[in-house]
Amino acid sequence: MEKKNIDWGNLGFSYIQTDKRYVSNYKDGAWDEGTLTSDATVQISECAGVLQYAQTVFEGLKAYTTEDGHIVTFRPDLNAARLESSAKRLEIPVFPQDRFIESVEQVVRANAGYVPPFGSGATLYIRPYMFGSNAVIGVKPADEYQYRVFCTPVGPYFKGGAKPITIRVCDYDRAAPHGTGNIKAGLNYAMSLYAIMDAHRAGFDENMYLDAATRKNVEETGGANFLFVTKDGKVVTPKSNSILPSITRRSLVYVAKEYLGLEVEERVIPFEEVKDFAECGLCGTAAVISPVGKIVDHGNEICFPSGMEDMGPITRKLYETLTGIQMGKIEAPKGWIHVI
Ligand code: PLP
Ligand code: COI
Repeated sequence: MEKKNIDWGNLGFSYIQTDKRYVSNYKDGAWDEGTLTSDATVQISECAGVLQYAQTVFEGLKAYTTEDGHIVTFRPDLNAARLESSAKRLEIPVFPQDRFIESVEQVVRANAGYVPPFGSGATLYIRPYMFGSNAVIGVKPADEYQYRVFCTPVGPYFKGGAKPITIRVCDYDRAAPHGTGNIKAGLNYAMSLYAIMDAHRAGFDENMYLDAATRKNVEETGGANFLFVTKDGKVVTPKSNSILPSITRRSLVYVAKEYLGLEVEERVIPFEEVKDFAECGLCGTAAVISPVGKIVDHGNEICFPSGMEDMGPITRKLYETLTGIQMGKIEAPKGWIHVI
């Protein structure tokens, strides 16, 4: 398919409407066969479950053009599984995992002209989501749902791409213990909007959330997990039941151990320990690995030795290996690359 006339190198992380999206409706206890449509709008009841009680969950993954010209996605099976666990937690009927993969394939194929070329620095972000669509006024799950998948070409999540960002320790909590922090539900993001704008107004790029129970341990940011590197070159990443199980983080843990021979610890990380780390990065589908140069905790600054100009050396190795695998330059572990 002919590529669209887009300035790939200058894309930010924002929505551009593409040609086709996938829609399937759930009614009378079953999902219909689903179809691609050109209609980028949704018409639902004014009293829809999603509008009244935020009954919606979503996923985020990317399609890449590899060096040899294939279009691929990265571990979509893990997105399918996570959407299932998110849906169950909000009493949304599961969209079958094999159909999730097929719907992603259909959307990417139908919008192949929007998949950024190899080497452009851009990727195609794919957003599967589902929501309660019929009227509910008492607090209960909807009876009807819509599952949709759209895609949009994107550049870096943080302006400046690989430039380290500055974040602050946030006074608001993101997720309660035993709450919904470990699923990908819109409600987790709605409650982060004030905190992120407040951070921006104060001159910070993002928030570091601490655990809500003790406010002593590092959790994650509004849209990515943390990875730290110790001064002796170990990779350390938080373990918590109230953070999103990032597919990027899980992949980087494997890459660190198996490709780079690094030691990795997944454990509770007291904030107290952060000042001793050598490097810090945010990892996620949108963020890839975005280096953090500075963390400010109520006026106390932690400046990582890696500085404000560039990624730290281990963060860079992780970044290059992961993106090398995603773009087909480095051989991937079995099952990681899904050719469309
Ligand atoms: N944490 C949050 C809150 C997120 O929204 C995301 C994005 O999906 C991540 C972490 C990273 O997860 P993944 O690597 O699966 O994209
Ligand atoms: C993703 O990385 O896919 C996300 O959903 C993060 C979001 C903040 C854009």
